[in-house]
Amino acid sequence: MAVILEKVVKTYGSKELPTHALKGISLRIEEGQFIVVLGPSGSGKSTLLNVMGGLDNVNDGSITIDGFTVTTMPQNELTRFRRKHLGFIFQQYNLLQTLTVRENVEIGARLVEEGGDTDGLIERVGLKDHAHKYPYQLSGGEQQRVAIARALVKNPKLLFCDEPTGALDEETAKEILALLQDLNNTLKTTVILITHNASIGQIADRVIKMNSGEISDDHLNQEKRHANEIHWG
Ligand SMILES: Nc1ncnc2c1ncn2[C@@H]1O[C@H](COP(=O)(O)OP(=O)(O)OP(=O)(O)O)[C@@H](O)[C@H]1O
Ligand SMILES: [Mg+2]
Repeated sequence: MAVILEKVVKTYGSKELPTHALKGISLRIEEGQFIVVLGPSGSGKSTLLNVMGGLDNVNDGSITIDGFTVTTMPQNELTRFRRKHLGFIFQQYNLLQTLTVRENVEIGARLVEEGGDTDGLIERVGLKDHAHKYPYQLSGGEQQRVAIARALVKNPKLLFCDEPTGALDEETAKEILALLQDLNNTLKTTVILITHNASIGQIADRVIKMNSGEISDDHLNQEKRHANEIHWG
């Protein structure tokens, strides 16, 4: 399983006033990699994630996930593919406030026919004793753990994380990163994590830097650190 991008172009705005968010990105991502995408605000990180995840269309180029060309899929097929195979985690946890932890995670399981082990994942993310609580009764870090369990219960091919620790303090952020690292190690889920915090690059197998809609650097980490060992910039 790999993700292959070929000359992906994404332009927003009008012909007169275009924003070139992605200027022809080519990229190959191998299965099981933990990838951190770095870059300044407006460099195209979220756009890259959104088009890879089929949340937004491209203007040119192609994206293939596990042999499926998502850029040419009809919308209903793409929606099915995304629900079944892709997981998303955002800075805002996007939990349903009127549902418990367990019910929120069950929603993730219901998106696929063979839904995963809801209770197992709740335990895995450290929320066994919180399964019957509502989101407002949880800390930010705990809410993000629910979002992670909800994404992972369908055992996605790819887990996209856009600033997953953006709203958390340093200590809690490191706990969440450690959890993502551990899930990548054990479940072999490919993780693509966006951040503008360069320190987080230390936990990746591979660091991709974006600048003005282009990849300015792409390298494998010689030495990968555990989230608990990184020094915040
Ligand atoms: N839906 C949209 N409509 C119009 N322009 C957009 C849209 N989404 C993004 N852009 C523009 O595309 C460029 C890239 O935005 P993008 O959100 O990908 O940046 P980013 O690297 O994720 O930034 P940040 O770190 O602030 O989240 C920016 O100039 C942005 O203003
Ligand atoms: Mg962004």
